[in-house]
Amino acid sequence: MCGIFGIALSSDAALGAILRRALERLEYRGYDSAGIAVVSSGSLVVRKDVGKVADVARRHGFDSVRGRTGVAHTRWATHGKPSQANAHPHTDCAGRIAVVHNGIIENYEELKAELAAKGHVFTSETDTEVFAHLMEEYEREGLSPWDAFRKAVSRIRGAYALAVVDLGEPDKVFFARNLSPLIVGVGDGYNVVASDIPTILDHTKNALPLRDGEYGYISPAGVYIERDGVAVSISGRVQQVPWSAEQALRGGYPHFMLKEIHEQPEALSSTIAGLEPRRLAEAAEMLLNARRIYVLGAGTSYYAGLVFQLGLTSYKLLAYPIIASEYATYEGVFDSDDVAIAVSQSGETIDTIKAARAVKERGAKVIAITNVVASTLARESDYVLYTRAGPEIGVAATKTFTTQVALLTALHIAVGRALGIDVSAEESSLKRLPDVVRRAIELNEGSAKALAEDVASSKNAYYLSRGLGMPVALEGALKLKEIAYIHAEAYPAGESKHGPIALVEEKFPVVFVFSDPSAKEKLLNNVAEMRARDALLIGVVPKGDDLTKKLKYVFEVPNMDPMTNAASFVVPLQLLAYYTAVRLGRDPDKPRNLAKTVTVE
Ligand code: G6P
Repeated sequence: MCGIFGIALSSDAALGAILRRALERLEYRGYDSAGIAVVSSGSLVVRKDVGKVADVARRHGFDSVRGRTGVAHTRWATHGKPSQANAHPHTDCAGRIAVVHNGIIENYEELKAELAAKGHVFTSETDTEVFAHLMEEYEREGLSPWDAFRKAVSRIRGAYALAVVDLGEPDKVFFARNLSPLIVGVGDGYNVVASDIPTILDHTKNALPLRDGEYGYISPAGVYIERDGVAVSISGRVQQVPWSAEQALRGGYPHFMLKEIHEQPEALSSTIAGLEPRRLAEAAEMLLNARRIYVLGAGTSYYAGLVFQLGLTSYKLLAYPIIASEYATYEGVFDSDDVAIAVSQSGETIDTIKAARAVKERGAKVIAITNVVASTLARESDYVLYTRAGPEIGVAATKTFTTQVALLTALHIAVGRALGIDVSAEESSLKRLPDVVRRAIELNEGSAKALAEDVASSKNAYYLSRGLGMPVALEGALKLKEIAYIHAEAYPAGESKHGPIALVEEKFPVVFVFSDPSAKEKLLNNVAEMRARDALLIGVVPKGDDLTKKLKYVFEVPNMDPMTNAASFVVPLQLLAYYTAVRLGRDPDKPRNLAKTVTVE
């Protein structure tokens, strides 16, 4: 769960500054240490340390390094604590080869022992370092750097995206991919590789996503790819990325998260405009022909999946929600007549990919809901429906959640239509959604900022709801927990009496989500219970509802149908979490211990 970048230019340039900029883009993937390696006038310059990219770059003068070929890395520690020695790039004994890596080399201990026995001296606790020594070993045996790289790739097992520079072939950056994302950017007279598309966009719009098992190199003149020793043709695989580089920048907001919250109306409009009725109808048909439907996802994407799963009950259809990392328990149940909907904004979350693969291995079909064109999940699924949220940089998902809900609502409508049910009300809600979300921001940003003062002084919070409000409560609690570091739990409101209420005392924040009108009456009983315990009563309620009098703080959102409401009622809760985090001095874009895309199990 790290970010890697590599570049091959045709002449000397301020490469250190280019690498620093790439790392700033990639920092959301991990930010405990950073480093660069540059081939500079026949020598290899490596600079790396613990800390955020900007600090490391300043301390180590990245911007003053010149060269033509280089690699860079921003780290999220897996093997070995954050330290200068464990920061990437990692080098061989002679300091001629530098490796950056995202993933885990599973057989590194065995390789390390083998290489140590041959005299290689290791300076880090990482799995990555074995790769540099492995190449060095094969070069000692007489192989060229390229052949040594290929042979080293054939020896490693696990998940990896690798980029390597070697003084022996100073114009090339070698790369390899298995399970971890890696994309080649095809330029004119230069080429790049990176862990994600926004980083490529600083250099070119032409992206070539690599597939598992592919490896090769970039040079200023071209891209070469192989798989199992056979050259792979790249013709037809280079895609024009529809995002602009500016889209991936902060655009004047203090944080990406706030920018992305404000981008939701636009992201929703694009997603809705991009809906293809024929494809939705086909996906709906697959679902209706399935014996069983599963909904897979992790984190926020799982909650978006829950909206769909609960929504299906209105058609008397029962789907099974499965947290992707728990798939193994259900593996024996998956059957060839089943269909799974796999929800993942990145399309690279390893748990969701593995769950989808397990489903496919049993002969069942997978429909992917993802935001990233040609991501691993998209490529491996039988059917793909894309959200069009644009790049999301903030670690906490916001616009990707609301666009997932919008897309899943469109799928829900398609299922209803196939069943001959009148879906016109839901259809018109979906059309209104971008405007309603715009309104939800306008109406609630000021009060979210004000309420953040109270919430910031709390150690705990509950988010209670019922029915289709539950995924909203879950997502609201997750936001507060992950970026403000306040312990927040969501419970079905009825269940709160079976334990959680024991913690409630004066001023304990309890957020009630009233997005599902069918739950209103019962939820009001739960409000009364919490009032009796002097809790701080907060509600997200339909605009104009008399509920406003029953709660201390209210966020009002124009009311629509309960599925579409899941996308708009969450907005004040995103804002509340954001402003609470800022109030507490936390960096909402880079919450501690978290990463945007979890690529290790
Ligand atoms: C991480 C991110 C979450 C995200 C989850 C699933 O935990 O921090 O924001 O919801 O992964 O990611 P995906 O890309 O599969 O939607």
